[in-house]
Amino acid sequence: MPVSDTIAAPPAPPVPATPDDVPGWFFRADQAAFAHLLHRQTAAGTAGDLLEMGAYLGRSAILLGSHLQPGETFTVCDLFDLDAPDDDNSAEMTMSYRETLTRRAFEANYRAFHPELPVIVQAPTSVLADGRIPAGSCRFVHIDASHLYEHVAGDILVARDALAENGLVALDDYRAPHTPGVAAAVWEAVFTLGLRPVLLTPEKFYGTWGDPDAVRADLLDRDWRAEGYRLDEEHLAEQVCHRLAWDEPAARARRAAPPRSLPRRIALDLLPPVATRAVRRALRAARRP
Ligand SMILES: C[S@@+](CC[C@H](N)C(=O)[O-])C[C@H]1O[C@@H](n2cnc3c(N)ncnc32)[C@H](O)[C@@H]1O
Repeated sequence: MPVSDTIAAPPAPPVPATPDDVPGWFFRADQAAFAHLLHRQTAAGTAGDLLEMGAYLGRSAILLGSHLQPGETFTVCDLFDLDAPDDDNSAEMTMSYRETLTRRAFEANYRAFHPELPVIVQAPTSVLADGRIPAGSCRFVHIDASHLYEHVAGDILVARDALAENGLVALDDYRAPHTPGVAAAVWEAVFTLGLRPVLLTPEKFYGTWGDPDAVRADLLDRDWRAEGYRLDEEHLAEQVCHRLAWDEPAARARRAAPPRSLPRRIALDLLPPVATRAVRRALRAARRP
């Protein structure tokens, strides 16, 4: 039999059954914060478009798309399988996304949950500065594309122009060790562009150029702690914002456990492992009836 010279197409990735089956970096606290804030906007009759810069395989886009209302437009901008605009961005793409990311895979994942695709701009996010997103048209913008300062600073300007009154911007990786450029751009926007922080999660910064008290009231209209989240009030640079994190049940249980006695803590902390095991055995034996 002749050997075929055609290369078989790689098998299609499995269809995700839930959005959590889609690879990505969109976790519980942010899923809940997005859903809550978007729902509150809709419940209050606030209409507006949605914009995501940086979609990867669609994990966060799928949730954003679930909150799209009739008459609203959802735009997603990503390079997908396109070349990056500069070497640093290209290195970032190679390191984190190239192996898995194609526009086709994004579209397949998105279609597993929604009948219609969003408007897709397959390009560097810098193209959005050309005015294709009407000024003041958006109620929610998610920035999660390049991590380089120059790019994120540009994305923030796009968001500022795109957002309607009291619209929200969520910025990913504002405090990760490997993304100092995002941190620089975010806090620069706070201190020089009037962006008001409203909510901080371990992964994302949420802010508004509108009235932070109105957004805060929406945020706090839910008993987050009763649902297992940690919620703390933070005062920074004369502004109030909240920190929200999912409280892992194991961590909660550890905090709720009664404290060890002082001599036991000292013995377990200071002794070498062999002696620690002997102390544990002795303590267990002493407790036995
Ligand atoms: C961290 S991932 C997005 C994750 C996604 N939001 C999620 O929650 O799973 C970053 C995405 O930004 C895209 N990206 C990186 N640099 C970009 C640029 N300059 N313009 C447009 N997209 C870019 C990458 O292709 C990648 O899909």
